[in-house]
Amino acid sequence: VRELPAKERIIVALDVSNVDEAKSIVNSLKGEVGAFKVGLEAMSLGIAHEIAVWVMNQGEKIFWDGKWSDLPNTLKGAAVGLKNRFGKMPWAVSVHANCGQKAIAEVVANRGDSLVLAVTALTSLKDTDCEKIYDCDALKAVLRLLKVAIEAGVQGIICSPQEASLIKLNLKAVGVNVLLITPGIRPLGSEVGDQARPATPKEAIMWGSDFLVIGRPITRAKDRVKAARIITSEIEMALLERSM
Ligand code: C5P
Repeated sequence: VRELPAKERIIVALDVSNVDEAKSIVNSLKGEVGAFKVGLEAMSLGIAHEIAVWVMNQGEKIFWDGKWSDLPNTLKGAAVGLKNRFGKMPWAVSVHANCGQKAIAEVVANRGDSLVLAVTALTSLKDTDCEKIYDCDALKAVLRLLKVAIEAGVQGIICSPQEASLIKLNLKAVGVNVLLITPGIRPLGSEVGDQARPATPKEAIMWGSDFLVIGRPITRAKDRVKAARIITSEIEMALLERSM
């Protein structure tokens, strides 16, 4: 993944309410970014499959961000069902680490060529929330869930850019190499919106991210290609700096 070109590291979030909007975004960004993410909103609306099939037929990659969390047998069914529906697994799928090692391992066992990406503690949770749920602070919760996900054999971890360096350190300590995927990216000068602790593309890469999930700073830009290219060059420079 070290050699992966900068633009391939951008995953564009298709947070859309209709298929045409998704197609317009993908059409404008084809060849400019690495992958497109469909999530729960599109799934609830019943448009996620149509979008995903269309995007894959364009030769582009799909991250199926279903954030699965259920029993082992149910998650096996979810993975097999997705494969049957598409004829192959999408480029990446997401699961919650809190559903436990066995359930995650079922997805890993049925992943085909797909990358299984685990969410540790949701970045929307504050320390006080984690105390209530996990009886420890957010950082400890993240590290515990990270261990579960790694033991289940995931290919990547979804985390906030702020957690990336600590997670990288912990992975290094146990000699495991998995991908870090970080949302919450805001280039300098763009609107922060509802992101609580955003990082710039440069920061995210310097802190150890491999892939950046970016929505509105690209999809809502007047010129999407220009926005994507500016971010790509920022990633390129950060990668260079990181390797020195
Ligand atoms: O538009 P924006 O760049 O904020 O979109 C980010 C995408 O990443 C959205 O699809 C959002 O659901 C997802 N995400 C996030 N923050 C997290 C986890 C996921 O923004 N902590």
